[in-house]
Amino acid sequence: MRKNDEFIGNVSAVGSNMEGIVRIDNYVCFVPFALIGEKIKFKVLKTTKNIAFCKLIEVLTPAEQRVRPRCCVYGKCGGCQLQHLRYKDQLKQKTQTVSDCLRKIGGIEFDVLPTIKSDNEYEYRNKLQLPVRFDGNGALIGFFANNSHRVVETEDCPIQKPWCKDVISVFKEYISSTGVSCYDESKNAGLIRHVVVRQIDNSLMITVVINGKTLPKSEVLIEKLSLKFKKFSLFTNENENSNNVILGEKFNLLFGEQYYYTEEFGIKYKVVPESFMQVNNQVKRKLYQDVVRAINADSETVVIDAYSGAGLMTALLSQNAKKAYGIEIIKQAVDAGNVLAKENGLSDKVENICAPCEEELPRLIARLRAENAKISVVLDPPRKGCDKLVLDAILSAKPDKVVYVSCSPQTLARDLGLLTGKLYYDGNELKKSVDVSPVYEIEKVQPYDMFPQTKHVETLVSLVKI
Ligand SMILES: C[S@@+](CC[C@H](N)C(=O)[O-])C[C@H]1O[C@@H](n2cnc3c(N)ncnc32)[C@H](O)[C@@H]1O
Repeated sequence: MRKNDEFIGNVSAVGSNMEGIVRIDNYVCFVPFALIGEKIKFKVLKTTKNIAFCKLIEVLTPAEQRVRPRCCVYGKCGGCQLQHLRYKDQLKQKTQTVSDCLRKIGGIEFDVLPTIKSDNEYEYRNKLQLPVRFDGNGALIGFFANNSHRVVETEDCPIQKPWCKDVISVFKEYISSTGVSCYDESKNAGLIRHVVVRQIDNSLMITVVINGKTLPKSEVLIEKLSLKFKKFSLFTNENENSNNVILGEKFNLLFGEQYYYTEEFGIKYKVVPESFMQVNNQVKRKLYQDVVRAINADSETVVIDAYSGAGLMTALLSQNAKKAYGIEIIKQAVDAGNVLAKENGLSDKVENICAPCEEELPRLIARLRAENAKISVVLDPPRKGCDKLVLDAILSAKPDKVVYVSCSPQTLARDLGLLTGKLYYDGNELKKSVDVSPVYEIEKVQPYDMFPQTKHVETLVSLVKI
């Protein structure tokens, strides 16, 4: 099998990135946007030993579950992978992916519950991240192509809220009317790198990420934004680094409020531009309720909420518990968590600690263990999963209950393999265990469709000490 070869084949399985899999000779061919059961024509883009990465040319026999994608740049933009699959089948596929990852990566056979749907299949995102680039001719605003930093231009995005279209048009007009430069990654030159927007209730928090210190003619931008949006704040964020991280450290307020207050579950809290927020409000609420239920704290329980973000979940967890500790690395999010606890009368029940979990959790859990506390732990790490030191500390302190929330089935499966004794580290190498007496067993695995139309899935796992 060689590059540019074309084949006709039947899709017999689905890959972890939701691609169709066709087996030809000894090759496993990954074909994005092909569905199981379809007969397709495809072209080979790249081969390794016996894997071929391919491009779909034509669907010869479409599957019954195939639907028309809503987006005009679907397949070019890297944001969505499943718009061509009927929604109820997206949910089934996500359940299957979680189950497959647990089995293949973690060595765990477990009945995964059906994925909980999002009420909104489209227009669900409360956060927009638009890369802005100079392509040699002019400004491009849109989304990155898959696995690349090439911007695919677009006027709108159907998984975003309807205000996305206005944000794109305002920035296009502002850039073309003022001639403000846009970022050229190859030269680390040009000013505007990204536009990041968050919706908090009826307000927008708009951040222009710039490769510099000031945004020229910002009054023009403010005027254009005022014509479209009733309530918004405008910030610049200084990022002069040449890496892939979107935000730099420093935010400067140009217009509107420095932060917004919102209320959920009867808890009032402050949102700052840099605090982490789940992107789908309705699914997030369901997930948070289920985390609190799974922890089921009583007045003796001390909860450690590791990777706690802006502290909403920590506050919720503290309500029935003796105390809840949040551990979070971003200082502004920790500050927001402290204000949240104070303003909701929870200061004596919540302690937010600003530190890396790999340093703080082992210390905290050992101290609580020495005090004979009844400990439960919530883990909600970023995509790369938990640091080995965090899992080691849990395995040695053995809290009664661990609830793991994850946005990556792959790293979730690895970490669950370690917590349930199916896997262990030999130096830096992950190995399958034989003959161990595990500390934890899995009680429940529940996926949530936080990100419809994409390959991503959020999962809650509750574990109990054996
Ligand atoms: C998936 S978010 C979860 C946030 C929060 N639980 C929520 O639902 O809003 C992961 C959080 O972990 C934080 N984080 C990343 N690496 C960390 C580390 N090594 N130690 C502590 N926090 C970290 C991020 O800043 C982010 O707020």
